Amino acid sequence: MENVFDREERTMKIMILGADGYLGWPMAANLSLTKNKLILVDNYIKRTLFKKYGKEPLVSLPRLETRCKILKKYNKNISFVKTDCTNTQKFLNLFSRHKPDVVIHFAELPSAPYSMHNFKEGWKTLDNNLKSTFNLITAVKTYNRKCHIIKLGTMGEYGTPNIDIEEGWLTVKHKGRQQKFLYPRQGSSLYHTSKIMDTDLLWFYVRTFGLRVTDLMQGPVYGVKINKTLDADQFYPTFAYDDMFGTVLNRFIVQGIANIPLTVYGSGNQIRGYLDIKDTIQCINLAIKHAPKANELRIYNQFTQQFSVNELAKKVQNALKKIHINASIKKIKNPRVEKEKHYYNAKHSGMKKLGLKPSLLTDRSIIEIAEYVIKHKNKINKTIIQPKSFWK
Ligand SMILES: NC(=O)c1ccc[n+]([C@@H]2O[C@H](COP(=O)([O-])OP(=O)(O)OC[C@H]3O[C@@H](n4cnc5c(N)ncnc54)[C@H](O)[C@@H]3O)[C@@H](O)[C@H]2O)c1
Repeated sequence: MENVFDREERTMKIMILGADGYLGWPMAANLSLTKNKLILVDNYIKRTLFKKYGKEPLVSLPRLETRCKILKKYNKNISFVKTDCTNTQKFLNLFSRHKPDVVIHFAELPSAPYSMHNFKEGWKTLDNNLKSTFNLITAVKTYNRKCHIIKLGTMGEYGTPNIDIEEGWLTVKHKGRQQKFLYPRQGSSLYHTSKIMDTDLLWFYVRTFGLRVTDLMQGPVYGVKINKTLDADQFYPTFAYDDMFGTVLNRFIVQGIANIPLTVYGSGNQIRGYLDIKDTIQCINLAIKHAPKANELRIYNQFTQQFSVNELAKKVQNALKKIHINASIKKIKNPRVEKEKHYYNAKHSGMKKLGLKPSLLTDRSIIEIAEYVIKHKNKINKTIIQPKSFWK
């Protein structure tokens, strides 16, 4: 995947909130290949939670202080600041010092099972996600209204309605009149609900104070490799595979390699839109390049293919067979409350119109992830994969 920035383009100050995370780090690494000035921010809360719940990722990665030094080889203009984005004063100070042109906001707690674990985790999710978003909005409104906020939303905000999911907006006709609204949203966890509230906050500040925002409704992401230049373990992201913080495809691959059944929750007919981590990076690069105007909230549905959980498990099983791993699939009681048979047809043409060239899910892409997991097979902890957080 190549960068969409060309040489003549002006350099920008880009702040990445949550730069230590699964998506934040590869995004920072990819942007280090440009001439932009990068300010990486994280408070390591995810590392703390991995430890607290005994759900350590497959490989323990160095902290950002160390990883930043690796990126300096490509771009000297990179700094890391350890700051909690929910700390209003500290965050406003940081923002006003740098006055970035773009902020990519990953700094949230993105786990549905964590948010539904208990009251404490639910509240922590709401508190962290809404405060970090609200502090960012306040900083932009106070110090640089031209700053382009790129916020990671989730396809889970829409839920699974019995009508087509549009890209962010829906025109409603009622008694002879019509109005364009945010597409109706109904999350299936407190985490997803916090993301809905984020979008509402951003939309309020866009229409009232003229902010410029891109909200990326992203599906579950899979993968580790980000591009040919940065193709080494040190550029790969945190790889979580446990029941609380892992995403489904990465988890299936680990289960296959650990010789335990791929656990499908419920009927397995739940359909979602997925994407390769390479495409997450490509989409965000495209969003940076195509900034909205003042008073504009742009929403893209950020995924490339739709699959049911059963289809996904079968795909992993077939791909692993090609490298002589015989994985079995087992249906288990669904720990979540969600529709297990539903209509799902979500539009996702916006990013393609901007130039997205998707990396689709193939046997090769599954084997690419499997090769990374096999290298670290001895570190797999089989006891952290079965679901332990139940909605009811
Ligand atoms: N990974 C996916 O499949 C996926 C899918 C859809 C949407 N998203 C969204 O993308 C964003 C990033 O997801 P991810 O998978 O990289 O998550 P992650 O948990 O791996 O990374 C988030 C990072 O933000 C940091 N962080 C959280 N709260 C912070 C705070 N208050 N101050 C400073 N740093 C803070 C964490 O320490 C962590 O390093 C999230 O907003 C998530 O909702 C992710």
